[in-house]
Amino acid sequence: MKMRAAVLERFGEPLVVQEVDLAEPRAGEVLVRLAACGVCHTDLYTASGADPSGYAPAVLGHEGAGVVEKVGEGVGSLAPGDHVVTLFSPQCRECIHCRDERTNLCLAIREEQNKGHLPDGTVRISRDGEEVRHFMGCSTFAEYTVMPEIALAKINPEAPFEHACLFACGLSTGLGAAINTAAVRAGSTCAVFGAGMVGLGAVAGCRLQGAERIICVDLSPERLRLARGQGATDLLEGGEGAVERILEMTGGFGADYTFEATGSVAVMRQALEAARMGWGLCTVAGVAGKGETLDVVPRLLITGRRLAGSSFGGVKGRDGVPALIDRYLEGEIDVAPFLSHRIGLDEVNRGFELMEAQDGIRSVIELS
Ligand SMILES: NC(=O)c1ccc[n+]([C@@H]2O[C@H](COP(=O)([O-])OP(=O)(O)OC[C@H]3O[C@@H](n4cnc5c(N)ncnc54)[C@H](O)[C@@H]3O)[C@@H](O)[C@H]2O)c1
Ligand SMILES: [Zn+2]
Ligand SMILES: [Zn+2]
Repeated sequence: MKMRAAVLERFGEPLVVQEVDLAEPRAGEVLVRLAACGVCHTDLYTASGADPSGYAPAVLGHEGAGVVEKVGEGVGSLAPGDHVVTLFSPQCRECIHCRDERTNLCLAIREEQNKGHLPDGTVRISRDGEEVRHFMGCSTFAEYTVMPEIALAKINPEAPFEHACLFACGLSTGLGAAINTAAVRAGSTCAVFGAGMVGLGAVAGCRLQGAERIICVDLSPERLRLARGQGATDLLEGGEGAVERILEMTGGFGADYTFEATGSVAVMRQALEAARMGWGLCTVAGVAGKGETLDVVPRLLITGRRLAGSSFGGVKGRDGVPALIDRYLEGEIDVAPFLSHRIGLDEVNRGFELMEAQDGIRSVIELS
């Protein structure tokens, strides 16, 4: 079939929206008609050429929501008409990691996904016979996509697509960092560094876990205001003195749980330093630049602070994303403030510009 899609032709140049061919879903695959897709830093990172593992031509996008149109042979968990959210982090339910509650890092299709292929090592997207690769296993800057069944979460059809798609990446990452990775205890004090999609999700996650105090740190007053809406009790301007301020605010001890959601290694260090001696847990969600390292004074660890990383918030996607969306539908998570701009597929490059200008939290492409 023919469809419109935003293709990364050459690194560092705008995406080109054009007509491409999409082949039928094969065994274990599903054709999805996309309805909405968020524009994320990871898309821009790859488009810019900064990501050394990037490839082109490829259809970018990975924060999609839509409707199952057709299923390939052997697909049992999804049927036409089902509403789904796309998962760059799949859940096969069979590999050693999927069967262990300690991680969400499914091992099933990683290698081929990293190469821009579907699990059988081939692609479904082409243009005049030339292969176009799948980005993060998703390629959702398009009217349709073909994805593996194990990378689609079936969600409550009452969830509006423009909100549901935000659970495909940053929002679940932040919520999950607090709920799964840190498993914040009720009554605790938390400090969240960064108030973008991920940090604001972490603030909301800390609130859902019953944290008593949630300190949010960012450079932007506007974003700190959004953090207040998600449950932050104290707002703090980021920068040099942030750790000292948090220590002052916590009787000299630091926070029970800290979260880093900026991607800066300097802030990761601050987040560890702001964690309480004895049991403070620092969860890192930000993605640092290639080759950067984290500089930590080991004494901070000996005296009981712990450091953890979190990918997609530890959320096992097919189980966890529908559960988070149910909580949103029950009124526990306020998603509307994160949707800053609605744009068309043709305006995808404007989505990147808005993100670079830090204008709003997320631009969402409306596809159908
Ligand atoms: N672990 C994962 O699975 C996962 C998933 C999605 C995104 N990420 C990463 O999480 C990070 C955050 O993503 P986002 O979409 O929220 O990004 P964002 O750019 O929207 O938000 C980052 C925020 O950090 C703030 N910030 C920058 N310097 C700061 C400082 N010194 N002190 C305090 N705040 C500071 C910025 O003002 C901004 O509000 C990125 O590194 C992204 O790549 C990780
Ligand atoms: Zn993303
Ligand atoms: Zn698995």
